[in-house]
Amino acid sequence: MPDSTPPLTTEHAAPDAAFEVRIAPDGWVFSATPGQSVLQAALSAGVELESSCRNGTCRACLCRLVQGQVAYPMAWPGVSADEQAEGWFLPCVAMARSDLVVEQPMAWPAPAP
Ligand code: FES
Repeated sequence: MPDSTPPLTTEHAAPDAAFEVRIAPDGWVFSATPGQSVLQAALSAGVELESSCRNGTCRACLCRLVQGQVAYPMAWPGVSADEQAEGWFLPCVAMARSDLVVEQPMAWPAPAP
């Protein structure tokens, strides 16, 4: 049976749609709107992900993209081409270009405001 899972890719196209992001294994689901990084979308939905610099340099947020496509607003975020090919990405700067499944076992609910 052919695999219909979209390839893991990164692109530099402009965002034009909101996409669903699912965090595995805990199952948090939220929407990433155009112009939001995956981390910003998570925080807006009350889901905390590991992060520090939030500008793509420290790699504290590095996690696996299990399914879907993301794009970066800069040509060279702090993740190598080889790492990207293996599915690693930086949610603090990556923007969804499709529905995503992200492997991040360290996600947790944000405290109530
Ligand atoms: S939080 Fe520093 S690279 Fe994402």
